[in-house]
Amino acid sequence: MKALIVGGGGREHALAWKLQKDQPSLEIIAAPGNPGIAALGRCAPVSADDVAGIVQLATKEQPDLVVIGPEAPLAAGLADALRSAGIPVFGPSRAAARIESSKAFAKALMREAGVPTARAARFVDAAAAKRSARELGAPVVVKASGLAAGKGVLVCETIAQADAAIDSMLTNDSFGAAGREVLVEEFMEGDELSLFAITDGTTVLPMLAAQDHKRLLEGDRGPNTGGMGAYAPVSLASADLVADAVDRVFVPTLDALRTAGAPFSGLLYAGLMLTPQGPKVVEFNARFGDPETEAILPLLESSLLGPLLAVASGRGLAGQHLRWTSSHAVTTVVAAAGYPDKPRKGNAVKLPPVDANVHIFHAGTALDASGQLVTSGGRVFAVTAVAPTLEAARAESARVAGAIELEGKQLRRDIGWREQERGAGASGN
Ligand code: AMP
Ligand code: GLY
Repeated sequence: MKALIVGGGGREHALAWKLQKDQPSLEIIAAPGNPGIAALGRCAPVSADDVAGIVQLATKEQPDLVVIGPEAPLAAGLADALRSAGIPVFGPSRAAARIESSKAFAKALMREAGVPTARAARFVDAAAAKRSARELGAPVVVKASGLAAGKGVLVCETIAQADAAIDSMLTNDSFGAAGREVLVEEFMEGDELSLFAITDGTTVLPMLAAQDHKRLLEGDRGPNTGGMGAYAPVSLASADLVADAVDRVFVPTLDALRTAGAPFSGLLYAGLMLTPQGPKVVEFNARFGDPETEAILPLLESSLLGPLLAVASGRGLAGQHLRWTSSHAVTTVVAAAGYPDKPRKGNAVKLPPVDANVHIFHAGTALDASGQLVTSGGRVFAVTAVAPTLEAARAESARVAGAIELEGKQLRRDIGWREQERGAGASGN
């Protein structure tokens, strides 16, 4: 059996690792992949965004399954093109991926379906957007509607900041096409959860909830990044909370997408805010999250390949289950010097030896002309440690991430600190 994985980051390395663990004889092809994935299979030099190139590769290789990692190819219609070519693909159509690629579409859909989310309105006119920010009052959130690689959300503490954010998007075009339509949104307070569900459009298989750490610096300070770490499970995500999210968020959203003529199959990711009024949707993504995937998959005892094949083949998920270990996983991202603004590429890296409970997923690496492993992106590695306790997983993840040799590397040694504090509270300390 053959699987083609589209993408070349830590998420795709973790997917390749898990699928091959599920079926050791599985032949992995990745486009473009990375040196970590190359240890598991073959990497084809085709960019994830090159729809025609990926379709050509898949037509030649005839994989039993294509898994699309990043959002950009989904928004560009890669899943549709592959399905038209008769290739089984795990990932939503372009129309269904609008749940991520247009925040205005997602908001309107949630409002119609009665899915709990922050109040918001969409604007293309700066003066009207500024009036809306004043009505909501600070703090207020300004969002570029389109895909902006995680940078299109500005949480504004003051109205002056909101005005500046609106001007940068609508007047100065700083976010390009993604920011020509904005949402001005009510600020929500609470803990955030990333909850993924594998779905065939009707049946929902929720995965273990995780928490992402988006800020660059320890204590959740500093600029937003693509994610500096994650951990799972999260004690806030009780079985009741997850069941509630399935009933009140996932099922109505999938129903609404189907009714809109855009049935969703693949991975639906709900970013939830646990507010005093219950869980509310911050955003949807149409794909596995990064770095949450690197934390979650090492805890999945049952097969991932089975459900992904069931969705991709159109057989559906009826009768499929997921089973999790009772261990804890902590993922620490090792980022390049200069990340997130100007990550330094081409710096040499050297990895320490690790035990079987530690996974060093490659996120932004390449081999230089002499075959030396070097940095090629902002997030260079995602280091996941699995242990019986959160504390042990945190310590080992931070230790191994710290032992990676890379000049000017950046990492947070406090991944999972919120959960650790909750645990401390629960034991009465
Ligand atoms: P998003 O890209 O939509 O996930 O937003 C990035 C981050 O901005 C989220 O993870 C939240 O921390 C924050 N955020 C987005 N929307 C809101 C909101 N309405 N209230 C508070 N924080 C928000
Ligand atoms: N971890 C956030 C994302 O994948 O969008």
